[in-house]
Amino acid sequence: MTVLVTGGAGYIGSHTVLALLEQGEQVVVLDNLSNSVVESLRRVEQLTGRSVTFYHGDIRNAACLDEIFTQYHISTVIHFAGLKAVGESVSNPLEYYQNNVAGTLTLLQQMQQAKVYRLIFSSSATVYGTNATVPYTESAPVGATTNPYGTSKLMVEQVLQDLARAEPHFSIIALRYFNPVGAHESGLIGEDPNGIPNNLLPYISQVAVGKLARLGIFGDDYPTKDGTGVRDYIHVMDLAEGHLAAMRSLPRVNGFKAYNLGTGVGYSVFEMLRAFEKASGITIPYQVLPRRAGDLAACWADTTLAKQELGWKAVRGIDVMMRDTWNWQRQNPQGYQS
Ligand code: NAD
Ligand code: UD1
Repeated sequence: MTVLVTGGAGYIGSHTVLALLEQGEQVVVLDNLSNSVVESLRRVEQLTGRSVTFYHGDIRNAACLDEIFTQYHISTVIHFAGLKAVGESVSNPLEYYQNNVAGTLTLLQQMQQAKVYRLIFSSSATVYGTNATVPYTESAPVGATTNPYGTSKLMVEQVLQDLARAEPHFSIIALRYFNPVGAHESGLIGEDPNGIPNNLLPYISQVAVGKLARLGIFGDDYPTKDGTGVRDYIHVMDLAEGHLAAMRSLPRVNGFKAYNLGTGVGYSVFEMLRAFEKASGITIPYQVLPRRAGDLAACWADTTLAKQELGWKAVRGIDVMMRDTWNWQRQNPQGYQS
């Protein structure tokens, strides 16, 4: 039996492929390399001593999916492929709906045709929009998303629920990630954003290696512990292990289930900055800027359900997140091009 990982050359995908291989699974990756390089998978092979079958192709290409489903006995699909830049989704919504929503529809149709009924989908805490109060439980209202990226995740969750209702032989888990950070402890694979990073920790670590001059902190007047935004940062290897736990649970899932993958702990921007400085020994210059449009004051997960039903919880704390982020960035100042 083989696991098909769409978007497996990307940040979270490559770490999950590594965890799958270490567990003895056979893995096929389908990725169009629009936001990744195949070098990530070569390094995964180097770390595990196992090989990954790689298809350079697009989830919107039905013929390509058909070939994979015909060629391999796929038991489960882990679906990471999609676009994820919030600002870009506002300026180019059609591209986002095309990739994230239409692409997923094509994948689901091909799964249906091939009678592959087990799916894990990369959703996001962003589906809770501005309606929920912290800590977010899975039963909190979803909706009121503030950008096409968030709406695309919400739309796919709706499609998955409708499909599971119509065809109960499907077992589908949507994992709502909070804020993934960090890298594999080897420092060989990690996050390699295109251009100037939007997210906090990649920005801080690029200041540390001198690629960026200083961190801009988006507001220090929020009603939080020190005025800066609070988030639930989760180590990418904890996230990868969350996918393995979800995969083990899939046979028990009738229909559709959503789980939060977070730590349940919120850290402020200043706390993240200090923790990074401690791990790296580097002082990060910063300036406080106005709030960023669309940002929430605070967001963290209630992790009870994943603990109870998946038997999974995050085990890596902020010091490990910072150690591994720095280890990756220091060894690969230019990302995979280093
Ligand atoms: P990433 O960009 O590193 O990985 C996504 C991968 O999908 C890339 O390798 C890209 O080349 C590929 N891809 C994109 N469109 C494709 C298509 N049409 N066909 C085939 N491959 C395609 O992003 P990531 O951080 O690893 O995120 C993985 C998933 O998790 C995404 O769906 C993202 O929306 C979701 N997610 C990410 C975060 C985060 O902060 N990183 C948070 C919540 C949810
Ligand atoms: C952002 C996205 C969200 C996505 C998530 C993925 C927005 C509005 N939201 O969320 O949809 O799911 O990334 O991880 O883009 N910060 C700074 N300076 C920076 C960068 C960030 O002060 O240069 C602050 C932010 O204001 C926030 C915190 O750091 O308080 C975390 O920001 P970020 O890493 O962008 O994540 P989110 O805002 O949670």
